[in-house]
Amino acid sequence: MKVSIVGQGYVGLPLAIAAASAGHEVWGIDTNVVLVDELNRGVSPLGDLTDAQIMQAVNAKRFKATVDFGVINSCDLVVICVPTPLDSTFEPDFSYVKSAAESVAENIKEGALVIVESTVSPGTTRGLLKNILDKSDIKYHLAYSPERIDPSNPKWNVTNTPKLVAGISEEATQKAMIFYKSFISEVVPASSVEVIESAKLLENSFRLINISFINEFAQFCWKMGIDVREVIQAASTKPYGFMAFYPGVGVGGHCIPVDPSYLSAKAKEIGASNSFIDLANKINHSLSSYFTVVANEILGSLKGKKIIVVGVAYKPDVSDVRETPSLDLIKALRSEGADVSWHDELVKEWIGEKSAKLSADYDLAILANPHTGTDLSQLGSVRILDTRGGY
Ligand SMILES: NC(=O)c1ccc[n+]([C@@H]2O[C@H](COP(=O)([O-])OP(=O)(O)OC[C@H]3O[C@@H](n4cnc5c(N)ncnc54)[C@H](O)[C@@H]3O)[C@@H](O)[C@H]2O)c1
Repeated sequence: MKVSIVGQGYVGLPLAIAAASAGHEVWGIDTNVVLVDELNRGVSPLGDLTDAQIMQAVNAKRFKATVDFGVINSCDLVVICVPTPLDSTFEPDFSYVKSAAESVAENIKEGALVIVESTVSPGTTRGLLKNILDKSDIKYHLAYSPERIDPSNPKWNVTNTPKLVAGISEEATQKAMIFYKSFISEVVPASSVEVIESAKLLENSFRLINISFINEFAQFCWKMGIDVREVIQAASTKPYGFMAFYPGVGVGGHCIPVDPSYLSAKAKEIGASNSFIDLANKINHSLSSYFTVVANEILGSLKGKKIIVVGVAYKPDVSDVRETPSLDLIKALRSEGADVSWHDELVKEWIGEKSAKLSADYDLAILANPHTGTDLSQLGSVRILDTRGGY
């Protein structure tokens, strides 16, 4: 198939390379000129994709990146993988999907299938996006298929993670399934796009709520003088009805802190009850001040104290700092007068600062998201506050 994938980020690029590897001819469309140039030179911006994998697809003439939306007109299939962030008031920002859908509508080929992979609120594909695409005034098919990619996960990737698919029509569902089945081992159809738009938000809200709960529970254990990790380990011996979640500095990344707000915004719009997500967000946002209070308790006062935050990426073993909770923690510690540095051997440079060396020259080290290879022994006898629990 001739395929255009709009948005070449964490979702669109691995999808493009997987589709190219399966023999499809793929155009990777992005508005970022620098990224497009790098991709065509085989430079990978992602930890999970090597330069060689991209170069191989480019050399085989199966993949080419472009800023030209005109290529859509030669394609049987267009996939939309652009960001769906929150705006400055923490409300869903649909501007990228709207803009991408407008570009698709201007260029779509008669009979082509459009698949939306961006995470959206239930009703968005059939409502907002279909309305924009209908402006093309030609016959096309429309489907939704949420992405579940987990960056740096060594086991689950684009090709072996089950893929949910639903079309606005049965024909659209079937067409989308044929495409995904060509490179994904398990493709699961659903009866409507609304079911899987909601399923995606359920998956990520489930994580947000449970992580927030375990973070609150960890605060209880800290006050009780109990090791929360040992409690979780003990509870995990129950062979059914329990799933372990682990405490930390807070949720980060592009999905977990963002997607649930698409669900809560929709709930507010239709007048449905929605207490859990708002509460989970509240707990999550309170963690920076909680750990600042704990640091204060440990050191007596934070004024002039040298503190190093270790691991500022949003999770271990990635260099991604999007929505990282370490940012709020560092700001909160600094507002109390602490002299704060940070160390992250994968992030290296961030917020206009460079990663500091780990050494014994600190009053306190706060472990946020240290990576597998982070050598904590370099901290010597520095006192440690481990946000991940442990006592
Ligand atoms: N990152 C993840 O792990 C993940 C997982 C599952 C689902 N998602 C969802 O997938 C979608 C994409 O996320 P992402 O992480 O790949 O985002 P990203 O920021 O990594 O990449 C998006 C790309 O789209 C480009 N872009 C923006 N507007 C465009 C437009 N109008 N036309 C063409 N290109 C445009 C940007 O330049 C960028 O390169 C979001 O809805 C996100 O919630 C992300």
